[in-house]
Amino acid sequence: MKGVVLAGGLGSRMYPLTKVTNKHLLPVYNEPMIYYPIKILVNAGINDIMIVTGGNNAGEFLKLLGNGAEFGLRHLNYTYQEGEGGIAAALSLAEFFADEGKIVVVLGDNIIEKNVRKAVEAFEKQKDGARIMLKEVPDPKRFGVPVFDGRRIVRVEEKPAEPKSQYAVIGIYMYDRRVFDFIKALKPSERGELEITDVNNFYINEGRMEWDILDGWWSDAGTFESLQYAGNMVAQTGANKT
Ligand code: DAU
Repeated sequence: MKGVVLAGGLGSRMYPLTKVTNKHLLPVYNEPMIYYPIKILVNAGINDIMIVTGGNNAGEFLKLLGNGAEFGLRHLNYTYQEGEGGIAAALSLAEFFADEGKIVVVLGDNIIEKNVRKAVEAFEKQKDGARIMLKEVPDPKRFGVPVFDGRRIVRVEEKPAEPKSQYAVIGIYMYDRRVFDFIKALKPSERGELEITDVNNFYINEGRMEWDILDGWWSDAGTFESLQYAGNMVAQTGANKT
């Protein structure tokens, strides 16, 4: 299976830190943010990876990552997202790379303590459809939140004012080839973006969505608070344990 890291967008929430550099190049404790999602994929056994960059200083990714030798890779693929049309818009740029195969997508600001090898293996065996990962969080309002009927997810709500569960849909998504058709049918949300939550709801409506609970801690690093939290957690326990 192939992997895609989404590191586009303008990082406007993090201004002025992102005035002269790209959000995904900021440090999370002792490594640049972009290292963590790449390691998530590599630790899950995925070594054919595309990075969707964007915003400021996208050229610096090439200087930093090169062909991925530091991660044991022989080659890295890159593409560039203009503006910040949303996570699903960034993913649409990977259609040619995916080449009709299944993909694992990781958001460029997501950091985990352990690894997702088991979930990726389960998705490999899954005939088709999609797979998401959940984590119980104290502040679900900030995230995509699953709504359950028993064990079944009936929909995901993006940043709901009144969350219907205590879980966040974390930024590690697994999709079959139909994801690109679903993205083409999307309309921009109120925040003017093509939302990954709407893509997930397409799969849920078709009864083709599986899910797992993530083992170990998870954090995004896309706000000042979460960047600091993620850095502290990495310092305390380490990340991307195999
Ligand atoms: O972190 C998990 C959460 O990520 C999910 O629970 C939400 O459902 C999902 O919408 C997303 O929420 P955020 O509002 O936190 O996403 P954000 O706009 O901060 O973007 C996260 C990453 O996605 C960012 O670091 C790079 C990538 N991205 C984002 C946008 C808007 C792109 O590559 N292109 C984009 O245009």
